[in-house]
Amino acid sequence: MSKKILVTGGMGYIGSHTVVELQKSGYRAVILDNLSNSQPGILELITRITGVKPEFVNLDMTNQQGLNAFFHNHPDIKGVIHFAAYKAVGESVEKPLMYYHNNLGSLVNLLACMQEHPAASHLVFSSSCTVYGQPENLPVDEQAPVVPAISPYGNTKQISEEIIEDTCRSNALLTAISLRYFNPIGAHESGLLGELPLGVPNNLVPYITQTAIGKRNKLTIFGNDYNTPDGTCIRDYIHVSDLARAHVVAMERMLKKDNKKAHEVFNLGTGTGYSVLEAVQSFERSAGVKLNWGFSARRPGDVEKVWADTQFANEELGWKAEKGLDEMMSTAWSWEVNLNEGLMG
Ligand code: NAD
Ligand code: UD1
Repeated sequence: MSKKILVTGGMGYIGSHTVVELQKSGYRAVILDNLSNSQPGILELITRITGVKPEFVNLDMTNQQGLNAFFHNHPDIKGVIHFAAYKAVGESVEKPLMYYHNNLGSLVNLLACMQEHPAASHLVFSSSCTVYGQPENLPVDEQAPVVPAISPYGNTKQISEEIIEDTCRSNALLTAISLRYFNPIGAHESGLLGELPLGVPNNLVPYITQTAIGKRNKLTIFGNDYNTPDGTCIRDYIHVSDLARAHVVAMERMLKKDNKKAHEVFNLGTGTGYSVLEAVQSFERSAGVKLNWGFSARRPGDVEKVWADTQFANEELGWKAEKGLDEMMSTAWSWEVNLNEGLMG
């Protein structure tokens, strides 16, 4: 019987791609999600891609009793990949308590359940390169200092890593891997799964695709006076399916007891930085669509440039991002086109 892995937030953008990769690798996935930032139709799309319908439980993870009952009813779960969280940086500045309650409350409840049910003693956690702020040295490796977070959202990632570290130290059975994502973009190669931003997107790529399809007038590029070759910010964009695959590898590492410490931390990026202008050019090239864009002032809180040192993940996890920027853009575009043709109804 294949091993069962719980995917919290598995109806969301990165979670749904990870469920696909888990099922492709022979695992059974059970999704727990309250659909606060996702749609029930995602389940059907995962099924269309993999031929297997994952089990889905609609539950809010801040409901500790409900979560306990869930674990009680699923004694065969061997590990947990924890995506469920709110992720909008600007909203977190306006509603910090909502972010601390949801992101930290869910994690604490989850860890309490995992302590109670030690069969499920391996955790993969979604962290972010936001913990590095603007690093002094680039590419940034995992030893770089974690700097005070600019937003409550970023702070929830830092505090979560600390909560996991403390809990692993106090519990001999529990192991965890925190994955610090750089900028996940793109969509499944089938065009059937992708990012579903609610309202006006904050992130670059959904803004680009929505502009190209005509939902938005014009992309605004925030700042052209940065200390970078073309004056725009630099990021390490990584294809969501490469990112998803890393979660399967991380879980396998713990299941096989290959982990070297109770709590390990890895960067997940490609190791290459691209400017906003290069990202726009890549989109225009790979989608074959001309984009309406213009410059504006800098966006407060943006770091100038960041890209990952991926050596530790490449060597220790035996994982490497494979897909390039053009493929990230062309898959994001196929997804937008499919959405526009009514894929999600
Ligand atoms: P997403 O919003 O698409 O997915 C998150 C899912 O969690 C949603 O389906 C939502 O309904 C669910 N959820 C939220 N709170 C919940 C709760 N209390 N109980 C049950 N379900 C709940 O986000 P995503 O882009 O897939 O991100 C997944 C994780 O990765 C998040 O923790 C996010 O902070 C982290 N992350 C994302 C990025 C990024 O650029 N997308 C970058 C770094 C880290
Ligand atoms: C942002 C968050 C980060 C979070 C990540 C994923 C901030 C400061 N950081 O990262 O904490 O983990 O999203 O949710 O919000 N850009 C434009 N025009 C746009 C949108 C973006 O020029 O309309 C630029 C930005 O200035 C940036 C780059 O595109 O240089 C990427 O932006 P974005 O996709 O929002 O990601 P980050 O800012 O890197």
